[in-house]
Amino acid sequence: MLSSIVIVIVQCTQIKEKDSRGAAYAGSTTCNSCHKNIADSYAHNAHFNTSGFLTSATATDSLTLPIGEFVFNEKTKVGIEKRKGGLYQIAYINGKEVKAERLDFVFGAGLSAYTFAFWYGKKLMQMPLNYLTKEHQWVNSPGFPAEQIYFGRPIIARCLECHTSYVDKKLIQTNDLKEEEEFVKGSLIAGIDCERCHGPATKHVEFHQQNPEVKEATHMVSYQSLPLSRRIDMCGVCHSGIELQSLTPTFFFKPGDTLRSLPQYSAFTGKDPDVHGNQKQLLEAGLCYIIGKTDCISCHEIHNENKVSLKIYSQKCISCHQNVAHTKIEEKDNALLSTNCIDCHMPVKESSAIGFQVSNSKDKIPYKVRTHRIAVYKDLLKAEK
Ligand code: HEC
Ligand code: HEC
Ligand code: HEC
Ligand code: HEC
Ligand code: HEC
Ligand code: HEC
Ligand code: HEC
Repeated sequence: MLSSIVIVIVQCTQIKEKDSRGAAYAGSTTCNSCHKNIADSYAHNAHFNTSGFLTSATATDSLTLPIGEFVFNEKTKVGIEKRKGGLYQIAYINGKEVKAERLDFVFGAGLSAYTFAFWYGKKLMQMPLNYLTKEHQWVNSPGFPAEQIYFGRPIIARCLECHTSYVDKKLIQTNDLKEEEEFVKGSLIAGIDCERCHGPATKHVEFHQQNPEVKEATHMVSYQSLPLSRRIDMCGVCHSGIELQSLTPTFFFKPGDTLRSLPQYSAFTGKDPDVHGNQKQLLEAGLCYIIGKTDCISCHEIHNENKVSLKIYSQKCISCHQNVAHTKIEEKDNALLSTNCIDCHMPVKESSAIGFQVSNSKDKIPYKVRTHRIAVYKDLLKAEK
């Protein structure tokens, strides 16, 4: 008796919830039944975990965030404290609490940083402090005032276009006739799900459910059948920098669409764009792309859960470059030639757009990203250890 009740409940919760993108979207849990291996490993991928709700009181536990404080000056600090319902950032002026907000939402899979937000009505507001996962430090959010606690910056929909699968946005007019964005709360789909890359899949799901004997994909764009520029655009929709804006939200970009038709699209002009989030333009500037026709998946396994070592990445280089005549590099670096092509040809660079202010100091920790402009860097004859 009890077990049959349980079964009924389980079946009810499995009935497809309506996807906020519309009926053409099946929702990512529907993919699990037929693509279990991919779905299982993708659950650990940075794309899938690049944003999430922290609504339950224990939601921050998996992020292993320490409590602590960030000191602006002797009068002003922000505390990070556990309180009822979750983790809070709390503003103190002269030792007195003046504001406390709960961490409601997180941006970042934690490869290097987390940004937090709280709901203010229908707006998501960025919290004063970010957390750096390698340095294990609470830092002032990039671009925030250096002397002052700031709770006043709304998270714009543009962040969500790259870090979530969907949100419905409304533009409202304020009293001083400015436009502000508000979100429809229930429409927000955190993380990057399968259909964000592969496009709407309800037809595909229904067809294969009704025709289990068919082993060839139907109603689904095949990545491999797309021309090179369209393959790159499928990733470039989120890896072409934050300046790129389209008139309609990029949420509905699907495989086969192109970015070049957007008036705001800017190709590589000879000057390196900021390394943050600009992998597409940088890759396109190098000969591996221009002559070698590399796409992003020549080197990246997209559903993978594991961090890939530089040695494995180097094998991908060697698959196209056997027996390169390295004449100018020092003998002691010869050993690197089979294990680390990356530090010499894709050096790590500091983003000029982002830096994180340290507690009790004006110092900044730079945000470092590898450049995707694969080239011979004359000043880099040696690899760093
Ligand atoms: C009822 C079974 C079923 C469900 C559910 C299903 N698929 Fe598929 N899918 C298939 C079959 C069969 C193929 C063809 C064989 C293969 O590539 O695995 C396929 C292939 C694919 C391909 C490869 C297309 C190609 O030609 O390269 C993609 C991408 C894909 N599915 C995405 C999805 C996504 C995203 C979802 C969830 C929204 C999903 N599928 C749900 C059965 C299903
Ligand atoms: C960040 C973009 C992205 C996301 C998110 C994504 N995929 Fe893919 N997927 C790709 C690319 C690119 C390929 C082509 C890879 C290749 O041909 O090696 C691919 C290939 C596939 C294929 C066919 C090749 C194969 O390995 O069988 C299936 C099936 C598939 N994806 C299903 C899924 C499912 C299910 C999810 C969610 C759990 C998902 N994908 C999420 C980008 C993505
Ligand atoms: C919907 C936006 C979006 C799309 C589409 C997208 N990415 Fe990403 N990608 C991101 C974001 C956001 C991050 C940062 C994740 C984090 O650490 O929070 C990221 C991180 C990455 C990383 C570093 C993390 C890791 O797993 O090693 C790689 C590599 C990457 N993307 C490759 C790709 C490739 C290849 C494609 C196309 C097949 C693609 N991305 C498509 C948004 C996107
Ligand atoms: C054009 C797409 C795009 C936009 C817009 C964007 N990001 Fe990102 N973001 C990325 C990509 C790609 C990465 C990872 C690699 C990199 O920095 O190039 C990333 C990295 C991050 C990380 C670090 C993730 C980690 O795992 O360490 C955080 C936090 C973050 N973004 C927050 C934000 C916030 C907040 C906004 C809005 C103010 C925003 N992003 C806007 C694409 C974007
Ligand atoms: C799909 C094949 C392919 C892959 C993968 C590939 N390349 Fe290339 N690369 C080429 C081709 C083709 C050229 C142009 C001809 C040449 O210089 O060999 C090139 C050019 C280069 C150049 C010369 C650039 C210049 O401006 O003179 C360097 C350096 C280079 N690649 C390094 C790498 C490294 C490092 C990797 C791995 C991170 C890599 N390549 C991955 C195909 C590839
Ligand atoms: C020739 C090989 C190669 C190609 C092609 C390539 N990448 Fe990468 N990518 C790498 C390597 C190597 C790293 C560094 C991994 C590390 O340091 O652990 C990397 C790192 C990244 C990161 C993380 C950035 C960081 O510094 O943490 C993102 C995001 C990314 N790639 C996106 C892309 C996208 C999008 C494309 C296609 C436009 C692409 N990559 C094409 C080799 C490649
Ligand atoms: C210690 C730094 C260093 C390492 C490690 C390194 N390279 Fe180079 N690479 C250079 C320099 C410097 C040049 C240009 C001068 C020369 O000929 O030595 C170069 C040139 C090249 C070229 C262009 C050659 C041409 O014909 O114009 C390619 C392709 C290349 N490297 C690929 C690789 C690959 C693949 C790996 C890993 C297997 C690798 N490199 C490892 C520093 C390095």
